[in-house]
Amino acid sequence: MFKKITDLKQDDLYEKTVLMRVDFNVPIKNNQVQDGFRIKQVLPTVEYLVEAGAKVILISHLGASKATLKPVADWLNQFIPVKFSTKVVDTEAVKNLTAGEVLLLENLRQNSGEETNDEVLAKDLAKGADIYINEAFSVSHRPHSSVVRVPMILPSYVGFLFMKEYEELSRVFSASKPFVVVLGGAKFSTKMPVVESLAPLADDIFLGGALVHILWRKMGYEVGQSLVDEGIKGLDEILKLKNVHLPQDVVVTGVNNERLNKLPEQVGMQEVISDAGKQSVDKIVEAISGAQFVLWNGPLGLVEKGFTDSSRQIAEAVASSEAYSIVGGGDTVAVLNDLNLIDDIDFVSTAGGAMLEFIAAGTLVGLEALSD
Ligand code: 3PG
Repeated sequence: MFKKITDLKQDDLYEKTVLMRVDFNVPIKNNQVQDGFRIKQVLPTVEYLVEAGAKVILISHLGASKATLKPVADWLNQFIPVKFSTKVVDTEAVKNLTAGEVLLLENLRQNSGEETNDEVLAKDLAKGADIYINEAFSVSHRPHSSVVRVPMILPSYVGFLFMKEYEELSRVFSASKPFVVVLGGAKFSTKMPVVESLAPLADDIFLGGALVHILWRKMGYEVGQSLVDEGIKGLDEILKLKNVHLPQDVVVTGVNNERLNKLPEQVGMQEVISDAGKQSVDKIVEAISGAQFVLWNGPLGLVEKGFTDSSRQIAEAVASSEAYSIVGGGDTVAVLNDLNLIDDIDFVSTAGGAMLEFIAAGTLVGLEALSD
């Protein structure tokens, strides 16, 4: 088992240098943070460490790119004074930290060693630090240097947010019934292990979004010009599962951009499947309203192109249901945010891919790295 931040007394933290892996991988446009949800969730941990008199170093990636974390430092400064370094490793800045100060280092992925799980980078990051805290559950499915290598060097703990994610997502494995799962998004490859893991536990698993297209193609349906996640094996086994439901109808966009509700067998070669259809949404909403536990990850339509109707209806159904509700994934959380429904969900995960991997495997590489 892993050690928790709560295993440390405040005295254990006084004047100690704490290297904390966070996930500040947030949308940024024109140097402005667009959605600070993930950053906000980590603030209590940062404040806790500051109050305990620790010297806090925050490390994060930002997308797969070389983008700068400077806008995140500016965003944080509204709430708490944070120094920013343009270097991924900055021994000098670390040395100059005093008790209660916070330093954010530059995007880890600017150093190629992060993604190759480089030992030298891990040692450089650990230099001058006394304690490592993983407060980035949402990136703990990546076998990267700051996630799996640094904890081999320093005494390591998980933070409050990590603990919360772990405890909340673990509820899925003993969910009360009826247990309803809604999975959308583009890639079936990322959702398939979740379907396999939850099929024996859930009463109903509803699939929606572009991830359905590969299954429909397997069944012999035309999917027109829609996105298809190719090259997946084992689809026949999925199609045999009685509690896994594909949409009964869909909204398609025709050649003249008109929106039409169609049955699977009616989709034309030139059409694009853009959203779940009315009958499908009604069926999911009904299942949610009778559920005791609901898990939702992934929108059901092409939300990035404005096809948000079905996802909005699902969001409203989940928010108003009596069921214990867990929702995750950036696009899904954005739908809730737009509708101001975040507070009506029992647990909104900061994780997307990590949430799926955790549910599929019951663990994450970053978790294993922390185990005694
Ligand atoms: C996420 O947004 O899911 C995490 O930050 C991981 O990001 P990545 O997919 O770029 O590794």
